[in-house]
Amino acid sequence: MAERGIDTIDCALVLGTGLGAIAEDVQDALRIPYADLPGFPRGEVSGHARQLCYGTLHGRKVLIYQGRAHYYEGGDPAVMRVPLGVMTAFGSPPLILTNAAGSLSAEMRPGSLALITDHINLNGPNPLVGDHGDGRFVPMVDAYDPHLRGRLKRAAQKVAVSLGEGVYMWFSGPSFETPAEIRMAKLLGADLVGMSTVPEVILARRHDIRVAGLSIVTNMGAGLHGGAPHHAETRDVAAVAAGALRRLLRAFLSEL
Ligand code: HPA
Repeated sequence: MAERGIDTIDCALVLGTGLGAIAEDVQDALRIPYADLPGFPRGEVSGHARQLCYGTLHGRKVLIYQGRAHYYEGGDPAVMRVPLGVMTAFGSPPLILTNAAGSLSAEMRPGSLALITDHINLNGPNPLVGDHGDGRFVPMVDAYDPHLRGRLKRAAQKVAVSLGEGVYMWFSGPSFETPAEIRMAKLLGADLVGMSTVPEVILARRHDIRVAGLSIVTNMGAGLHGGAPHHAETRDVAAVAAGALRRLLRAFLSEL
């Protein structure tokens, strides 16, 4: 990466479905398609550009993963291992993961933002299966860094963006949940559901990278208050709510 002109990184960001436009604010941007980077995921999902973008955003050097690969694309929970592993060569800067999510809470309505406080992984797959050494037994208390969460909350207050918070439950996708699964998730203590992020958090924590997760609530969970999620809605609502996320990230980065 250094040979491509990437040196310091103050913060890395993974942009989820419909959120790619945030990378347009980057100045002096170096953009590299994942297809040109060994070990980076191939393929595509509509709403994801799949390129790395490096440059200055609100005075900070950022590495933006414009689009992620998901477990549901090929059944590999470690599909983001190489992209995230790259960060260790740059001092493991903080990582902000964004995603689109369904809400299980009447307080978090479609179009709003939510901070992830913890997660539930009952899918089965874990990206560290097959890893060796004691480092694979990654502690997951405070996996979503309390310090970063505090900073994001303060940034949200500063720019008057309302920020819910809750536990994110990972479903493999690509089919959406059934109403019965959503009722189960609620009973188990989930507030948000989605098809990404959790394997990335586990991979990042494996490298001691501090992580925060931000969801754009694109819909209510299946069967709740008429919730009937579909991909076009996810993409379109995320793109609209991206404005608030942009403001929040600006405030967060300028105080970093
Ligand atoms: N379920 C799973 N993933 C999602 C949802 C949902 O309701 N909305 C956006 N991504």
